[in-house]
Amino acid sequence: MSATELARSIPKAELHIHIEGSLEPELIFALAERNGVSLPYASVEALRAAYAFTDLQSFLDIYYAGASVLLQEGDFYDMAWAYFERARADNVVHAELFFDPQTHTARGVSMGIVMEGLSRACADAKQKLGVSASLILCFLRHLSEEDAFTTLEAALPYREHFIGVGLDSSELGHPPEKFERVFARCRDLGLKLVAHAGEEGPPEYMWQAIDLLKVQRIDHGIACLQDPLLVAELAHTRLPLTVCPLSNLKLCVVDDLRDHPLKKMLEAGLCVTVNSDDPAYFGGYMNANFVQTVEALNLSKEDVVALARNSFEAAFVDSEQRRRFMQMVSAAQTA
Ligand code: ADE
Ligand code: ZN
Repeated sequence: MSATELARSIPKAELHIHIEGSLEPELIFALAERNGVSLPYASVEALRAAYAFTDLQSFLDIYYAGASVLLQEGDFYDMAWAYFERARADNVVHAELFFDPQTHTARGVSMGIVMEGLSRACADAKQKLGVSASLILCFLRHLSEEDAFTTLEAALPYREHFIGVGLDSSELGHPPEKFERVFARCRDLGLKLVAHAGEEGPPEYMWQAIDLLKVQRIDHGIACLQDPLLVAELAHTRLPLTVCPLSNLKLCVVDDLRDHPLKKMLEAGLCVTVNSDDPAYFGGYMNANFVQTVEALNLSKEDVVALARNSFEAAFVDSEQRRRFMQMVSAAQTA
């Protein structure tokens, strides 16, 4: 079996997927029609043609516009269910989904509608597809910390529906330190903590995420190679980095997938994982990310196994579940 074939078939966890970033143009148009929302694009093709991004912000502007069609509980369910079907096809056996409640509550959609729709899809993913799934609530970092506190309070009646919190949206100019107090509160509540850092921002933002927010994983983190001390720290602690190769390419963080730092990060002993970020916008789901990265960086079968094992090492699951996932990886290796 080639490294590419193994990359497709190996069981894996996806830990960095914004569920609103899985909204395909066809579903955006179907939901717009169902809900009577008008879109500033004439057709699916016209919308897709607008997906020519120059940086993170140019993407976020379209991503938030796309999410405007989500109004009812069933819309959130349908979006997540469509993702789970694709994840299953890519041999994703465990997924931790980011969602951005502020994008919805700002439009008058209640927290309950968002939570109920997404968590019903997670329950069905487990029951009907055998994909275990959980939710991570992300605070939008371009908004204030006060807004994040308000969002947390609104989410607490649904505490059993999410396992942790994250930090996403426009990175530059919004350092992790801005959210130190709300993350401390989330830590007290026993929530898992993650944050986007080192996507477009500097290694300093990754240090802040580690030292001030006390995160258990960093999303992206590819800026770490600019700072040898940070690399040494990450290698020592095995703090996981949820890397998204096609996202980095589409948002012009790297010019060519052959220049992507993932292989160097693996060689440095970091706990790197492969993820799709916003697959409907960046040209591919998990296996597209795996396969294109394997081919661009000439990764070996051992590298593919390391990436799959890292995804389960980094997953927020109990030790018994982790052991079962690791066994699945071993079985796929010898198959
Ligand atoms: N929200 C959705 N995708 C994102 C990304 N790649 N970076 C920051 N915020 C996001
Ligand atoms: Zn992301």
